[in-house]
Amino acid sequence: MDMTPVSRTILVAGGAGFIGSHLCEALLAQGHKVICMDNFQTGRRDNLSGLLDHPNFRVIKGDVEELPEIRDRVDRIYNLASPASPPAYQADPVRTMMTNVVGTNNLLALAEKKGARLLQASTSEVYGDPEVHPQPEGYAGHVNCNGPRACYDEGKRAAEALCYDYLRAGRAEVRVARIFNTYGPHMQCDDGRIVSNFICQALSDEPMTIYGSGEQTRSFCYVSDMVDGLIALMELGETPDGPVNIGNPGEYTILELAELIRRVAPTSKRPVFRPLPKDDPKRRRPDIARAKSLLGWAPRVPLEEGLEKTVPWFSQALQRPMAVAGRTAETAEVTR
Ligand SMILES: NC(=O)c1ccc[n+]([C@@H]2O[C@H](COP(=O)([O-])OP(=O)(O)OC[C@H]3O[C@@H](n4cnc5c(N)ncnc54)[C@H](O)[C@@H]3O)[C@@H](O)[C@H]2O)c1
Repeated sequence: MDMTPVSRTILVAGGAGFIGSHLCEALLAQGHKVICMDNFQTGRRDNLSGLLDHPNFRVIKGDVEELPEIRDRVDRIYNLASPASPPAYQADPVRTMMTNVVGTNNLLALAEKKGARLLQASTSEVYGDPEVHPQPEGYAGHVNCNGPRACYDEGKRAAEALCYDYLRAGRAEVRVARIFNTYGPHMQCDDGRIVSNFICQALSDEPMTIYGSGEQTRSFCYVSDMVDGLIALMELGETPDGPVNIGNPGEYTILELAELIRRVAPTSKRPVFRPLPKDDPKRRRPDIARAKSLLGWAPRVPLEEGLEKTVPWFSQALQRPMAVAGRTAETAEVTR
C-alpha cells in the first residue's frame, strides 16, 4: 500500500484569525499547500508571522463577500471567515450576517466549481440559550432571531442551511463543525472573549469583569485540540449526515474560570460584577459523543494546562504598544 501522504491545495478563508492561523500552521506542517484568504477585519498579519516565508504558503487579501479569482487547483476549503466575538460581530451586524450568508454561498459555489470539499466553521451559538444540556447535534436550539446576537447566530444557522442545500443537491461535499468556546495564543486582548479578557485584566492587575452572578457555565477548548478536530472532520472518509460538535465538555462556572486564571496570572484585585448582557446563554457544554465515535477525536489539553500555555502569549502581546492602546475591558460582552 502506498503510504505517501497526500499533498493538497487548501484554501483557509479567515486564515489570519485566531483559529485560522493555527489551522494554516498545522496544514503546512502536514505538507499541504495553503492559501490563506482574509480581509483582516479581525485577523492580523502578526498571527501569520511564522508562516509568511514558508514556500507552500500564500496570503490573499480578499473578502468572501466578493471572492477574488483563484486560479489554483483547490481540494479543500475551510470557511472560518466571520468575526467571532460579540463586540466584533455586533460592530456591524448587517455585514456580519452578509459575511456568513453571502460569503458562505460564494465559497460553496467555489467548492462546486473546483470539485473541492468545504468545511464550514459553525458555532455552538446555533443552540442559542439552550434548554437542553449538554447540547447534542440533534437539538434544534433556542435562538432569539431578532436580538443583538441574531446577526451572528442566525447568520451561522443560515450558512448551515446553505451547506446542506448544496450537499443534498449534489453540488458540493460539505462538513459542518459546530465549534464551542476555544482559547489559546493569537486571541486578542481587546476581542471581548472571556478568556482573553480575564487574562489581560489579571496581567494588567485590573479587576476581572464578571457579567451576571458568574454562576453561568461555559466549556473551553484549547486551540490545538480544536484544529485536530477540524482536520479530522474534514478528512473523514464518509460525509457525516449532519453537523458535528467540536469542543471540550469540561464545564466551568465563570467564577471557577476566574479562579483558575488567578492561579496562572496572579492579581491582587477582586473581580467586579456587571449586568448580564441580553440573550447571554446561561449554560453551554458540548455533547461530543458524535465526534468521538465518528472521528475518534476527543480534546486532550486540560483547562489548567491550556491556560498555562496561553498566558505567556498575552504577556508578550501586552508589551506591544498596539495591544495596550486597543484594550477596552469595559466594552466587552465576555461570556462567549
Ligand atoms: N473562537 C471560538 O471560540 C469560536 C466559537 C465558535 C465558532 N467560531 C468560528 O470559527 C471561526 C474562526 O473564529 P476565530 O475565533 O478565529 O475568530 P477571528 O475573528 O479571530 O477570525 C475570523 C477571521 O475571519 C476574517 N474575516 C471576517 N470577515 C471576513 C470576510 N468577509 N472575508 C474574509 N475574511 C473575513 C477575519 O479578519 C479573521 O481573520 C469563525 O467563523 C467563528 O464564527 C469560533
